[in-house]
Amino acid sequence: MQSQDIRHQDKHWLSIALAKGRLADLAVDLFSRAGAGCDGITDGDTRRLVFDNDGLGLRFFLAKAPDVPTYVEYGAADLGIVGKDTLLEEGRTLFEVMDLGFGACRMCVCGPAQAKEMLADRSLIRVATKYPNIAKDYFFNKKFQMVEIIKLNGSVELAPLVGLSEVIVDIVESGSTLRENGLEVLEEICGLSARLVVNRVSMKREQARIRKLLDDLRGALG
Ligand code: PRP
Repeated sequence: MQSQDIRHQDKHWLSIALAKGRLADLAVDLFSRAGAGCDGITDGDTRRLVFDNDGLGLRFFLAKAPDVPTYVEYGAADLGIVGKDTLLEEGRTLFEVMDLGFGACRMCVCGPAQAKEMLADRSLIRVATKYPNIAKDYFFNKKFQMVEIIKLNGSVELAPLVGLSEVIVDIVESGSTLRENGLEVLEEICGLSARLVVNRVSMKREQARIRKLLDDLRGALG
């Protein structure tokens, strides 16, 4: 039965924060295959945010992706499943313990073909992105190129189409959003996929349970 008071820190629960959406569905499927599933969590109609597997003492939370590393860093969740893009952007202090392989995509600099020259010339270009920290690190620390970073919250491909920026830094999965908007990958920053992360204190305090869970998940990944 669902606990009524989730503020109460009940020691026997091992809590797992999942990034809402497609990654959560894939993560729940992985936990099911590992024998640690949770009823009701993939039910699209529910507005519930916390789901318990009483038998195993597992408590799953659904959180916005950028908040998953925050829950894990502060210990409100012992573990989390979230994309590498979010981990890089949020820069939280936690252990990244497993590459789960799913949710694979790339972080890229994209734009119209003619923007290639501006990248090559190291011109002072504008870069629109949902990932300002990743973009800053790439341009300032890796490429040593001065750029203006413009933070957006979504549909970033729009920015070069309407003259807000010359290029974007964004996730490319199938490439269809770029193609349909006449844009292309100009430079690849890094590969991305879903990662399992663990709170640093939980890793010690709940070592045996976490190790067993990691083994079961590894087994289910094959
Ligand atoms: C993501 C990303 C790209 C698109 C890439 O956007 O920001 O826009 O998916 O996928 P593709 O290469 O398969 O086309 P998302 O759907 O998360 O929405 P958003 O643009 O509002 O962030």
